[in-house]
Amino acid sequence: MIDPAFFHDQPTLTTSQLRLEPLGPGHFDTALAARPDRESRRLTGTHVETTDDDVADRLHRASIADDRADWAIVRSHDGMYVGEVSLRDFDPYNESMDFHIELSNSAVFGMGFGSEATKAVVNYGLEVVHLHRITLRVVDYNTRAQRLYSKIGFHPEGLLRDAWFWDGEWSDVILMAIVSEH
Ligand SMILES: CC(C)(COP(=O)(O)OP(=O)(O)OC[C@H]1O[C@@H](n2cnc3c(N)ncnc32)[C@H](O)[C@@H]1OP(=O)(O)O)[C@@H](O)C(=O)NCCC(=O)NCCS
Repeated sequence: MIDPAFFHDQPTLTTSQLRLEPLGPGHFDTALAARPDRESRRLTGTHVETTDDDVADRLHRASIADDRADWAIVRSHDGMYVGEVSLRDFDPYNESMDFHIELSNSAVFGMGFGSEATKAVVNYGLEVVHLHRITLRVVDYNTRAQRLYSKIGFHPEGLLRDAWFWDGEWSDVILMAIVSEH
């Protein structure tokens, strides 16, 4: 079992191009300016555009929650906010969490930021938190995300048929997980 109080604090993580900063109210201006564009929302199935109040509320909850860890993904060399990455749904008894990442602007897709942030957070989850399982869900048309998750070691575990509705079409959602070797 993992200490249920583990997520009272969380560290800043660094990669070669990025700084992953614990998400909180201090990110309000940058998170607002970088609200997910339509392509990013299509890939995460976010139907509703968030208001300023939604953003403020989300950042506040992220900073006090102890059943999840959220990071702002910031480009190291110029401080540009590029998105968010999270471990959520902490189950300390079964040592598992769910992973989510969203780069907010499609102009920064394909530059390796997603790979770096995912590797850093999955490594933190498995090697520092000592999670046994990390799970995620990805829609079948999001081939970029699937490629990234497979590369990092996630395996498909199941298919939710017609679980996603976007622009008048149903799509399947793939369940994936990575399981610790210890
Ligand atoms: C999915 C996401 C995290 C990937 O991050 P990224 O920085 O854009 O991707 P990377 O540059 O790290 O590339 C990841 C891999 O996908 C490959 N790739 C890039 N575009 C691709 C495409 N259209 N189809 C398939 N693979 C693709 C890359 O070549 C790379 O694989 P490689 O290392 O073997 O060459 C990012 O694009 C994103 O946040 N998208 C919007 C929200 C989203 O989809 N979130 C995931 C929800 S499950």
